[in-house]
Amino acid sequence: MLLLFFVVIGSAHALPPPPASIELNSSIGMEMLSRSMARSYWQVSIHYETQVNESMCGIASLSAVLNSLEGVDAPIDPIYAPYPYWTQGSISNDACVSRVVTPGYGVTRSQLASIAECFPKVSVLNVSAPSLDEARCLIRNALGRDNSHVISNFDRNGLNESGYGHFSPIVAYDAKQDLVLMLDVAKYKYPPLWLKLQDLVDAMNTFDIFANAYRGLLLVSTTTGDLRSCL
Ligand SMILES: *[C@@H]1O[C@H](CO)[C@@H](O)[C@H](O)[C@H]1NC(C)=O
Ligand SMILES: *[C@@H]1O[C@H](CO)[C@@H](O)[C@H](O)[C@H]1NC(C)=O
Ligand SMILES: *[C@@H]1O[C@H](CO)[C@@H](O)[C@H](O)[C@H]1NC(C)=O
Ligand SMILES: *[C@@H]1O[C@H](CO)[C@@H](O)[C@H](O)[C@H]1NC(C)=O
Repeated sequence: MLLLFFVVIGSAHALPPPPASIELNSSIGMEMLSRSMARSYWQVSIHYETQVNESMCGIASLSAVLNSLEGVDAPIDPIYAPYPYWTQGSISNDACVSRVVTPGYGVTRSQLASIAECFPKVSVLNVSAPSLDEARCLIRNALGRDNSHVISNFDRNGLNESGYGHFSPIVAYDAKQDLVLMLDVAKYKYPPLWLKLQDLVDAMNTFDIFANAYRGLLLVSTTTGDLRSCL
């Protein structure tokens, strides 16, 4: 009983953040947020949630982003009826998901793109292995306006984090130090972290053997068309 008690009251995040990252709640992390292009932060942080299990990182990222898009109607999840709200459960049970998911593994970037754009009024730009300049242009442009959000698909190893392929929203960009703010959906492992954009680009330029494709970025918005000019 005593052991269980200590486990339950342990640290909020199980793992120490990698040395190259900066925690959002540090004084420099908060200062960067206040000077950054962070419209997406103020929308997505309201809805950002923990992945319900290890294979739900893509769907948890998408759920937070869809709740943040104005004008996109949410379905009613029976657990919150009668209030419409995107949840990992309602997305998982949608026909948009059942046609793509590989049981027991989770989704690939291409599958997540295809799920997101299956919902009415949602546009997706599906970007494979962006260069540093492409990623910076896409992220700056997407985060500098309303109703436009970024989901990164990366290999945790490239950031010296514990784990493998993962998805999480990128919600702010600091131009002074070329850093991005990630809201990790595995909240029980890592807190929100500022990361070097170059490190994230390296972690996205990795080959996903399950997908047989490189990882990358998804821009999810109600109008992504003009972001293609970055590519
Ligand atoms: C930031 O949050 C972590 C828990 O995630 C905590 O351990 C740390 O003390 C906090 N840092 C500051 C400066 O408040
Ligand atoms: C993860 O959760 C989803 C949604 O509830 C469920 O469909 C899936 O079977 C779960 N996967 C694992 C490995 O527990
Ligand atoms: C996403 O991009 C990859 C190329 O990296 C492509 O193979 C795949 O078909 C695209 N998927 C969608 C849904 O656009
Ligand atoms: C990861 O750790 C290695 C070995 O300490 C180091 O050389 C590398 O720069 C680190 N990368 C990041 C992104 O922190």
